[in-house]
Amino acid sequence: MERPCLSRRHALLVPATAAAGVGALAACAPEDQGFGTNAPVRAEDGAVPLADIPENTSTLVNFGGQQPFVLVVRGEGEDVTAYSGYCTHNGCALREVEDQLDCPCHGSRFDATTGEVLVGPATRHLPEVAVRIEGDTLQRDG
Ligand code: FES
Repeated sequence: MERPCLSRRHALLVPATAAAGVGALAACAPEDQGFGTNAPVRAEDGAVPLADIPENTSTLVNFGGQQPFVLVVRGEGEDVTAYSGYCTHNGCALREVEDQLDCPCHGSRFDATTGEVLVGPATRHLPEVAVRIEGDTLQRDG
């Protein structure tokens, strides 16, 4: 079975029970890390199939409506946390660049696994967004 290549941040999301496979990650070339996507995954009717949100990675999702972008951090199975996809400095929509979210307005950067500010001028971490799993889809609450 072929193992996906994971970045160091991905490895942090892998539970200890999967730690035996971490050694295999060292063989992955950096260009094969495949962290998240640059283009947001679009939800249909407010729901996105879980199959479109890979495990052990972060994915920007467009749920539609006002402030549609949400960063979904998925571990194994139904382990999902979501953060706002908007900069806490002045509200610009963020772009996913490798394992960070980049603000095109004034250059703030956020960790795409925790929502923490890495580079200002933003000073506040990305707030969590409520999501829920319904069947085989992920939906935004509220
Ligand atoms: S709005 Fe993002 S850095 Fe200013």
